[in-house]
Amino acid sequence: MWSISDSIHRKKFGQFFTPNVIAEFMKGWVLEDKPSNILDPALGPGILLENIKEVNKIGYEIDSSIYEHFQIPDDVDIYFKDFLISDWDKKYDAIICNPPYNRFQNIEDRTKIKSLIEEKLNCKISGFSNQSLLFLWKCIYQLEEMGRLSIILPSDFLGLRSGIEIKKYLTENNLIHSLILLDSTKALPFENVLTTACILNIQKKHNKQLLYAKNISLNDLRNDIFDRCEKIKFSEVNPMEDWNKSIKYDFFADANYVELKEIAKCSRGIATGDNSFFIFDKAQMEKSKIPVENFDLVIARSADITGSILDNKLKNKMVENGKIKYLFNPIILDQYTQEYIDYGELSGVNKKYLCSKRNKWWKPEDKSPSIIWITPQYRVAPKIIFNNVHLKNLTCFHSIYIKGDKNLSHALFKYLSSEKGLSEIIKVSKQMANGLYKLQPGDVNRILLPIELFKNL
Ligand SMILES: C[S@@+](CC[C@H](N)C(=O)[O-])C[C@H]1O[C@@H](n2cnc3c(N)ncnc32)[C@H](O)[C@@H]1O
Repeated sequence: MWSISDSIHRKKFGQFFTPNVIAEFMKGWVLEDKPSNILDPALGPGILLENIKEVNKIGYEIDSSIYEHFQIPDDVDIYFKDFLISDWDKKYDAIICNPPYNRFQNIEDRTKIKSLIEEKLNCKISGFSNQSLLFLWKCIYQLEEMGRLSIILPSDFLGLRSGIEIKKYLTENNLIHSLILLDSTKALPFENVLTTACILNIQKKHNKQLLYAKNISLNDLRNDIFDRCEKIKFSEVNPMEDWNKSIKYDFFADANYVELKEIAKCSRGIATGDNSFFIFDKAQMEKSKIPVENFDLVIARSADITGSILDNKLKNKMVENGKIKYLFNPIILDQYTQEYIDYGELSGVNKKYLCSKRNKWWKPEDKSPSIIWITPQYRVAPKIIFNNVHLKNLTCFHSIYIKGDKNLSHALFKYLSSEKGLSEIIKVSKQMANGLYKLQPGDVNRILLPIELFKNL
């Protein structure tokens, strides 16, 4: 038998129990609508279903050994199984939940659960979603129309990229009744857990507005907290904001912002006209005997770069792994180079659209390396690279060139990579029917940058 003070066991199963005040508050709200059944998908000792009468109570618990330490709730139908992979098609009038928390790396079956969620809820979710978010997605699915779900969660997801899809889903479907952020400086909700938490109340009906409150102490929950909440229309809610700080669109005075084109210029990467002719890997280049001076190092596919800062160390590793390619860009017309150009003409490369428009069809566009790259299409967020090594790029990235003070490049890169920057990028992107976002260089030039970016430079 494990001991209740065994922190490894408790952490593995996320066994951190709900304080009474919070449990009473959550129960009070879900029971208002007089449900005929109620589910706790992470039952533990059962505090969230305690003292609920005349309602059919159902619980899931993966760790039956927990009842060696706690009395087994005898008025609850308990399923001893993993909630995340069980009984997807059962629906409930009310759900109340304090889910276990584990980082995405530690979740068994996470790929299977992710695909199930995506299939059932017709959405895309981040592969970095932690365990409590997976519980949230599944609870939403299993809630009856008009049903109520009250869930307490660590509030980190409200400001993380991995939380963006759920925030979008909740906003687009007007699902939130109230979001209450607890104040961890006044009372940490979970014993020995240094985390901030929020209570999310979801009602599956077309809510017009939601209630939002921050810094709420356990004491506040005892009183009528909803009266103290800010009422916010769904049309004002911005899923891209960090909801720990603000949930609304940041409507700003134009005077405080400038378009990116004021300080930088975005243009597309190098288009060769025929990559199979112009792009070599190392072995092909060596075999061709064309002088190495006739090639520029380039990145040809955005997937070939893993980090976001391209420094010499990463560049050398990428050269070693064959991720950096060689762009045929002749400056010396020796015998081997001339033979290769003749071969291109024989194969009709010179007649291809872009090549045929050039003075010398075999000379690709002369674009200098840019300091920041951004992918022209993305699903959740574009890939943004700080190119510290003067590497050239093909059209897999757009190039951003800084016009004036080069010190701006760091600030601009940081801003574009931030949540706030991302929300501005999304505003200028075009969303396609398949959920993909597209960015033209002109769109990038219109991204709004806060003036503060230039302060202290
Ligand atoms: C954070 S505790 C909450 C317990 C209780 N409902 C409360 O509010 O105090 C989460 C409980 O879920 C159980 N659990 C963990 N993973 C589970 C899973 N995949 N399916 C069902 N229960 C799980 C844990 O053993 C633990 O008892």
